[in-house]
Amino acid sequence: MKILVTGGTGYIGSHTVAELIERGYEVVIFDNLYNSKEEVLDYIKEITGVRPVFYKADLRDKESMRPVFKEHTFDAVIHFAGLKAVGESVEKPLFYYENNIAGTVNLCELMNEYGCKRIIFSSSATVYGDPAEIPITESCPKGTCTNPYGWTKSMLEQILTDIHTSDNEWSVVLLRYFNPIGAHESGLLGESPNGIPNNLMPYIMQVAVGKLPELGVFGDDYDTPDGTGVRDYIHVVDLAKGHVNAIEKVTKTNEVNIYNLGTGNGYSVLDIVKTFEEVNNIKIPYSIKPRRAGDIATCYADPAKAKAELGWVAEYDLRKMCEDSWNFAKKRFK
Ligand code: NAD
Ligand code: WQD
Repeated sequence: MKILVTGGTGYIGSHTVAELIERGYEVVIFDNLYNSKEEVLDYIKEITGVRPVFYKADLRDKESMRPVFKEHTFDAVIHFAGLKAVGESVEKPLFYYENNIAGTVNLCELMNEYGCKRIIFSSSATVYGDPAEIPITESCPKGTCTNPYGWTKSMLEQILTDIHTSDNEWSVVLLRYFNPIGAHESGLLGESPNGIPNNLMPYIMQVAVGKLPELGVFGDDYDTPDGTGVRDYIHVVDLAKGHVNAIEKVTKTNEVNIYNLGTGNGYSVLDIVKTFEEVNNIKIPYSIKPRRAGDIATCYADPAKAKAELGWVAEYDLRKMCEDSWNFAKKRFK
């Protein structure tokens, strides 16, 4: 089977490509390299023995994507390409709406034109807003997003659902990720954001390598066991495997299916700091700061549906996530 992976040189995309190749799929990637580097293709080759076919193309420029569809016939598309920085989306909403929404509309138009109507889409737990229930099941109502990035995910879920309603040859899988962290065991693939990181684990990694002096913990007065925010951190390799399992679903049904990809465990900010320190034997200095606007207290998944219908369960624990994050950081950031 041949799979198109948009955003395949990015953090989650690259791990998924490696997993797809290991499981015998043929993979074609396109990416505009806005937030990733072409050298990732060499790392994928080092891990799997195969350098995936790569096109530099932009979702916003339909004609740049056309050769990809002209030159290949795909069994399905896994659509990772998009912008994901929450704070930046507040400052530049049009940039986000154009890139993520107009870009995905362009992609779907081409998919229609070339008769590939199966898509697995990177959604996010952010669509639940401040969740009505914990743990969060897929039937939990979608909520009010607190930023344009979140709205692009929520709106794209609706757009893909509407496309299926208008043409039931379309098959759509919406994967709502919780908090991906960790890196490939080889230390070759991982997340290396530009500038000062917004997310917790990338920030901790910068403190660990000595590039930033300390971690600011955003609030210790939440209604959680230690007062700091609780999230469902998931190893990026587990997340990647979830996509491979979803291929069977998207190729065998003509439905819209939604799955949470999380572990079902909630860990606080201080749990992450302590585990990272313990596993890697490094001190992470931190101080308590005010709450960050838009944050919620607690968010973790009920992953039972993905287990029942995709046969997928997250396998790696928090210690492994911290160990692999550091293994990547010390190779790449020092
Ligand atoms: P990433 O930035 O590492 O990867 C996204 C890739 O898309 C990058 O390589 C970037 O260059 C590419 N891209 C962006 N705009 C493009 C465009 N117009 N045309 C072509 N390529 C473009 O991000 P990631 O963490 O791997 O996330 C992948 C997907 O998962 C994104 O859609 C993101 O919103 C979603 N997601 C991420 C998280 C997370 O915490 N990392 C959580 C939930 C959902
Ligand atoms: C985790 C916890 C912070 C940084 C975001 C997006 C979400 C999804 C995943 C894409 C929170 C605390 C963080 C720091 C801290 N992305 N924190 N100091 O906010 O759960 O989710 O990434 O879809 O849409 O919103 O992740 O890693 O930013 O924060 O104390 O320097 O760590 O307050 O409790 P979040 P995060």
